[in-house]
Amino acid sequence: MITKRLLASTPEDIQEAGELLKAGKLVAVPTETVYGLAADARQPEAVNKIFAAKNRPTNHPLIVHMPGADRLNQWAKNIPEKAFQLAEAFWPGPLTLLLDKADHVSSVITGGLDTIGLRVPNQPVLLKLLREFDLAVAAPSANPYQKLSPTTAEHVLAGLDGKIAAVLDAGPCGVGTESTIVRINDKNAEILRSGPISADQIQTHLSIPVVTPEHHTQAVSGNKAVHYCPNAKVKVKTFEQIKDGNKNALIKIAALVFTGDISPEGIETISKLSSNHINYRHDFYAVLHELDNQNVDEIWVEAPPLSDDWNDIVDRLNRAAEK
Ligand code: TXA
Ligand code: MG
Repeated sequence: MITKRLLASTPEDIQEAGELLKAGKLVAVPTETVYGLAADARQPEAVNKIFAAKNRPTNHPLIVHMPGADRLNQWAKNIPEKAFQLAEAFWPGPLTLLLDKADHVSSVITGGLDTIGLRVPNQPVLLKLLREFDLAVAAPSANPYQKLSPTTAEHVLAGLDGKIAAVLDAGPCGVGTESTIVRINDKNAEILRSGPISADQIQTHLSIPVVTPEHHTQAVSGNKAVHYCPNAKVKVKTFEQIKDGNKNALIKIAALVFTGDISPEGIETISKLSSNHINYRHDFYAVLHELDNQNVDEIWVEAPPLSDDWNDIVDRLNRAAEK
């Protein structure tokens, strides 16, 4: 299959992306977090193709992306009042709510679970596409299973070229890490995957406590320990350790820091990102893709600050380092 590159700046290309989705094809679409590999959520055969393209196990559930919170009742039932409060506060935006699925929702989407992950993405071109074609799309991140997530159309093509009908290129994603996943019950709200919206931010909109279970992986099926991996081995180190350099001439190292400008011995390439978490997050995956393309053995990443705002970065790095 030849994968078409469509441009989000061209109305005819947006039209074509919509027609491909309606025809049951896979199209990688921009969201504010990372690019998603989309299929029409009302066509289980189309959704099913996602698993083969990504090489993802079929029992890993997918998030459904809707054009507005007014569609919540189409996809979920028994929706708690507090879920509407969060939707009101954070949509469109990088928040996924886990709710009871509506009866019609195919188990292909939910991996056989009775719940469904829903969000309204904050990406103007995608919202326009979803609205104009009256679509909701099931979309995981548009990368091969367990690999680094894509924040540009180039990243998508590097992993999925030839396996999907098209990618709709809207340039780099605005936010940069995957959405915060929240499950609400009567007693509390649980953060099952940390993301750009922090626990503190969610807490300001809720009267019940916001908790972060220590072990995400059991609660969210498919949310595996090994995930988000570049080809090189990731090692999380302190700034001082990286500054000390690499004394083993047999291994090629790249490093990613945010504290200061350094050029340690024995380190092939060093990238510096902002110490502001918003700017760091924006470039995080792109820098990891870039360093990984240099065919190094290891990528040393400076340990992020232990603060609520950085939890998603810490989580992704820990999982990348599990490999
Ligand atoms: O920002 C994002 O969330 C991106 C963009 C494309 O929207 N999507 C994304 O999808 O990261 P994915 O499939 O790579 O990760 C979704 C996570 C998986 O760990 C999956 O197991 C979990 O959400 N998930 C989805 N539906 C679920 C459900 N009903 N119950 C438990 N976990 C669910
Ligand atoms: Mg993913």
